[in-house]
Amino acid sequence: MRQKYLPSFVKRRGRITKSQENNLNHLEKFEVSNIDDISKAKISFSKLTLEIGFGNGDNTLALAKANPGTLYLASEVYIAGIGYLLGEIIKNDIQNIKLISGDIRLLIEQIKKPIFDDVLIICPDPWPKLKHHKRRMINSEFLKLVHPVIKNNGNLFMSTDWKNYAESIEETILESNGYKRLKSSIYEKSELTKFQKRAMEEGRKIYTFTLKKVS
Ligand SMILES: C[S@@+](CC[C@H](N)C(=O)[O-])C[C@H]1O[C@@H](n2cnc3c(N)ncnc32)[C@H](O)[C@@H]1O
Repeated sequence: MRQKYLPSFVKRRGRITKSQENNLNHLEKFEVSNIDDISKAKISFSKLTLEIGFGNGDNTLALAKANPGTLYLASEVYIAGIGYLLGEIIKNDIQNIKLISGDIRLLIEQIKKPIFDDVLIICPDPWPKLKHHKRRMINSEFLKLVHPVIKNNGNLFMSTDWKNYAESIEETILESNGYKRLKSSIYEKSELTKFQKRAMEEGRKIYTFTLKKVS
């Protein structure tokens, strides 16, 4: 069967530790996989934020601790990362993170209504080779896909440490409708992710893009 979306992620199991594997036994309790699950989980929170591709989730964890009134939906396909974040959620008794495993685009296309206050994508896989650019997550098709699930005046925050990806995001934004570019975002000041830290250590600039949904 033809895949609906080209994989935007590297298919890797990664090195998974025994404790991450054990944590994965608890995934069902913390996972949401459809709009009904999300609506139920959201009841006791005032805001809903989606983070796509959380990696190891340290940034998600910091945001969740700082903003107990917001429910964070943390999406990842990388199983070791899911196992790690699950461990942190359990250890710290975090009540405001729910996990989504698998390609997030398949869930976004089912939601069909504006439920997210904010959507974050921090350092998506860069796919540096020209022949792989079509695998990049952020493109016009993606901005169209995510638009209906963001609330009016809600934000889409994106960042990359790859100059060439940043240039293509700039172009994509210019071609897209229904968003207004903002100068800055609160997410520029949040805990650095693993990939952001690596970029800074290696002296690479981090390019950020904040769009507000306007129509
Ligand atoms: C380069 S890593 C960055 C991780 C983290 N945001 C950071 O900055 O440290 C990109 C992550 O996005 C995840 N990813 C890529 N495509 C995805 C998709 N369609 N749905 C969910 N996660 C995805 C990958 O598995 C990978 O862990």
